[in-house]
Amino acid sequence: MGAWSRRQFLTLTAMSGMTLILKETNISFAQARKEEKMMAYTAKDYGKLLGMEGFSETLLKNHFTLYQGYVTNTNKLVDTLAQMVKEGKVGTPEYSELKRRFGWEFNGMRLHEYYFENLGGKGALDKNGKLAKKIAQDFGSYEDWEKDFKGVGAMRGIGWAILYQDASGKLFNCWIQEHDGGHLAGCTPILILDVFEHAFMIDYGLKRPDYIGAFFKNIDWKAAEARLK
Ligand SMILES: [Fe+2]
Repeated sequence: MGAWSRRQFLTLTAMSGMTLILKETNISFAQARKEEKMMAYTAKDYGKLLGMEGFSETLLKNHFTLYQGYVTNTNKLVDTLAQMVKEGKVGTPEYSELKRRFGWEFNGMRLHEYYFENLGGKGALDKNGKLAKKIAQDFGSYEDWEKDFKGVGAMRGIGWAILYQDASGKLFNCWIQEHDGGHLAGCTPILILDVFEHAFMIDYGLKRPDYIGAFFKNIDWKAAEARLK
């Protein structure tokens, strides 16, 4: 394969107007294809959730589009940061800000996947199952856990409510600020609730508790339980 020259002019519109101009680079076509194959994330299709009670098609389709944007921007950042290293730009303000941005975009992608994947179920949690028993053990009762989890979801601000499991086995209900603030290192997400306004305002306006109620009616408890260790 011959050398592959390209001039990339890449704009990351989500970066508060920051525009990056990547200078002409020469990399082999084979190398570029190999790297792209290794790095690229692909947006998953959650169309099966359309028709879910309490979630309009407009809201869900908008939400899928937002999720796809996180996948696109994660791929852009992976690619751009690798190029910056090759071009000697480590330590520049542009490099630093993109590095800071990476966790926000990546978590925006991954948390949406957990969220959509723990939706689409019907019925309550099996009270005799592994997850219900673990919840009752750590929170005193399922009811107390649900009160706490819904309380986290109803907190003012934009972010996520996450039921996390520590490697020790212990469960915690956590508030995540935006996508990246407050995660518990080394813990496994068991149940994820999106409480950014885009997740509910089209259907519920300011009535976030009503949205959380609809979320609970559609939890795929088997998917959540499968994450438990
Ligand atoms: Fe979202």
